[in-house]
Amino acid sequence: MSLTTPLINVMEAAARKAARRLVRDFGEVEHLQVSQKGPGNFVTEADLRTEEILYKELLKARPDFGFLMEENGRRNTEGYTERWIIDPIDGTTNFLHGIPHFAISIAAEREGQLIAGVIYEPVRDELFWAEKNVGAFVNRRRIRVSGRRVLSEALIATGISRSGRPGQKSFIPMLKTVMAKTSGVRRLGSAALDLAYVAAGRYEGYWEAGLSPWNVAAGIIIVREAGGMVSEVNGQANMLYGNSILATNQQLYDRIRRLLMHTVEEENLNLDE
Ligand code: IPD
Ligand code: CA
Repeated sequence: MSLTTPLINVMEAAARKAARRLVRDFGEVEHLQVSQKGPGNFVTEADLRTEEILYKELLKARPDFGFLMEENGRRNTEGYTERWIIDPIDGTTNFLHGIPHFAISIAAEREGQLIAGVIYEPVRDELFWAEKNVGAFVNRRRIRVSGRRVLSEALIATGISRSGRPGQKSFIPMLKTVMAKTSGVRRLGSAALDLAYVAAGRYEGYWEAGLSPWNVAAGIIIVREAGGMVSEVNGQANMLYGNSILATNQQLYDRIRRLLMHTVEEENLNLDE
């Protein structure tokens, strides 16, 4: 019996097809690093090409779905009840610098609710996926969030908001607080993989501000299906369009959220800035 579902099969096939080209492009980027021109334009093209492959494959398989994509925005916007949310390369800066830590992220939404997510990391060939009420998996193995309950033993991931995006002012104060209370902080440069790693129990938690829906949509459902908690840092549930995200295991959610919010309140910070 196949472990996956028809919806996941469609998403996996599209991600794997796009990834074959992406991995070849990554090889080229490694060469371009040392060239005078640098890989900038080439990476922009790789991003667009990956998104186009995903678009074509998913449209062929599910013609009725709408699309929200990082590069091309909305397509098929009329009368859909289901929609794909796509980031063709999450971790573009890593990709651009020849660092093998980036992923393709695809989420499926029905009537505004996330119903499935696939995050494919082609270099290690790790396919993180989840479907609502089915569970979360990496390749064919079920995953669960970490069982650690002691904050001082927790490894926490984060991301540093780019200049001009929300979350700049609050980042350093929050980082200081988290560093002081946990066993360490990581910033690997792909929000999608940060969420996937929380789902797989590799990190106990992850927070970031200033992201876009395509960075986090697939990761949100994967963390939930792995038994984790996801919200905005202030506890509200508008993670796709709000200005921050916090994902943790069950045991540490309240502690970490209160820790971050305490810093926000104490230092009079605004997560929009
Ligand atoms: C970025 C990554 C990164 C996060 C940035 C995002 P992109 O997405 O997810 O980890 O810190 O804020 O913009 O630009 O590579 O799709
Ligand atoms: Ca991207």
